[in-house]
Amino acid sequence: MSAPIISPSILAADFSRLGEELAAIDTADWVHVDIMDGHFVPNLSFGPDITATVHRSTDKPLDVHLMIEEPEKWVETYAKAGAHTIIFHVEAVADDQAAVDLAQRIRDLGVRAAFSIKPGTAIEPWLDKLHHFDEVLVMSVEPGFGGQKFMPEMLEKVRKLRRSIDDQGLDTVIEIDGGISPETIGAAAEAGCDAFVAGSAVFKSDDPAGVVKQLRDLAAGA
Ligand code: DX5
Ligand code: ZN
Repeated sequence: MSAPIISPSILAADFSRLGEELAAIDTADWVHVDIMDGHFVPNLSFGPDITATVHRSTDKPLDVHLMIEEPEKWVETYAKAGAHTIIFHVEAVADDQAAVDLAQRIRDLGVRAAFSIKPGTAIEPWLDKLHHFDEVLVMSVEPGFGGQKFMPEMLEKVRKLRRSIDDQGLDTVIEIDGGISPETIGAAAEAGCDAFVAGSAVFKSDDPAGVVKQLRDLAAGA
C-alpha cells in the first residue's frame, strides 16, 4: 500500500495569514478546499477567487470539495482556478447518469473526478459506478462545518467501498472527511481509507507540520 495521503482543510486556517498557514503545512500531500454555498449546506465559505489565490500560494495539489447545488455549472471555473481534484456531492446531481456524465466532463478538463456522500446516503448504488471516478470522499460528519465529532459508524461504508474497489481491481482512492484527528485516524485507516482530510486537528495546533506527520505515521501503522 502506498503512503497515506494527508490533506489539511484550509477551512480551519487563519485567512488573514493564508500564506503562512500554507507554509506551515509543508509536510502535507494535498490541500483540501471546502466550497460551501449556503444552500446545499447551511454555511458559506469562499469561492473560485480564493481557490485561485490558494493555488498561487502553494505548489500542493488542490482537493476541491464542492458542497454546492448545481455543481455541473461550476466545474470549468474550479478547473481554471487550479483544482487537481474536483469532488461533487451525489446528493446535488439529478441521478446516477448525471453523476457519471459530470465525472467524465471533469476528467475531460484534465482534473481528477471524485464524488462525495453525506452520512445519510447509502454507498451501495454507487459501487458499480466506481470506475468512472478517481476518488470517493466519505463524509464522517454532516457537511457544513469544521470541528465536528467523527461518526465511527461511517467506517462500515468505507469497508464496503474497500472490498468493492479491491474486488473490481480498481485504484479508486478512498478519502475520508470530518473529525479526523490522532484519535480517529487509525480506525479510518484500518477500515481502508487511503487519504485523510483534517481541518481543526492540523490548523488549531501549535505545530501543524508535526501533526500532519503524526497523522501520516498513525495511518501507516494502523
Ligand atoms: C466539513 C468539511 C470538512 C471540514 C473538516 O463540511 O467538508 O472538510 O473542514 O474539518 P475538521 O477536520 O475540523 O472536521
Ligand atoms: Zn471537505
